[in-house]
Amino acid sequence: MRHLLSPLDFSVEEIDKLLDLANDMERNPSKYSELCKGKKLATLFYEPSTRTRLSFEAAMMNLGGNVIGFSSAASSSASKGESVSDTIRIISCYADICAMRHPKEGAPLVASLHSSIPVINAGDGGHQHPTQTLTDLLTIRSLKGRLNNLTIGLCGDLKFGRTVHSLINALVRYTGIKFVLISPDELKVPDYIRQDVLDAKGIEYKEVQSLDDAIADLDILYMTRVQKERFFNEEDYLRMKDFYILDKAKMALAKPDMLVLHPLPRVNEISVEVDDDERAAYFKQVQYGVYVRMAIIATLLGLEVK
Ligand code: CP
Repeated sequence: MRHLLSPLDFSVEEIDKLLDLANDMERNPSKYSELCKGKKLATLFYEPSTRTRLSFEAAMMNLGGNVIGFSSAASSSASKGESVSDTIRIISCYADICAMRHPKEGAPLVASLHSSIPVINAGDGGHQHPTQTLTDLLTIRSLKGRLNNLTIGLCGDLKFGRTVHSLINALVRYTGIKFVLISPDELKVPDYIRQDVLDAKGIEYKEVQSLDDAIADLDILYMTRVQKERFFNEEDYLRMKDFYILDKAKMALAKPDMLVLHPLPRVNEISVEVDDDERAAYFKQVQYGVYVRMAIIATLLGLEVK
């Protein structure tokens, strides 16, 4: 039995295979429409979500399976003090696979240690968000045609943004990847990413504050929201929240084939006037999230079309 707790739980070869499967599911939906017949997915969301929870549910339904779950800690027995380890023992009696989002880093790992079904990390605190990363990789590979030889700008809240941490971890395994880390000083990537991942692997990167100065060199611009829920005081959040706003004027400085990605939700960091730009790929990214989660469910359940 396998879990998905970090993007590194799959080798590069396994990720290639998973992305191929996701592309095939996109092209041939009817081939997979009964693959999970009789199977149940449990969505255990202790933190708010629109995309991750609903795309997991849509993915399981597209595969012919069923879904149970809760969408907040308040509506589960966590509100009465039940532990994650007890909860997963219970859910293992009800479902074949589960996706868990939790505000505490490592909660899905704890769950996996007590689970008899595959556990998928659907986002744990400011730590990792592997299914968003696989979505990002599928989006880049499908729209750019490659995952090698790319200059990637990561912009915004690089300190608390778990999608950024997961994406860096995943992309350093490809060749010719350069990062431009664009953030205010207070929201730089944590040391464990800079030292243990980027420096340790000899990856080319620079840390800058100005998006205007950096944008012309980028193949991918990955915008992120300032993570209000992880700030210790409102004042700091208010000071940081509109530090970057991508608008038409900034897009005019970018390459004609640069892609703009964002894990969403967006607040102010991408002006709606950018939505009609053909380089804006963030809504396509949402659609790729369904295919990739279909592929993840099928792979972790060990199911293949005969
Ligand atoms: N990208 C993402 O994780 O969105 P949700 O918080 O809506 O799931």
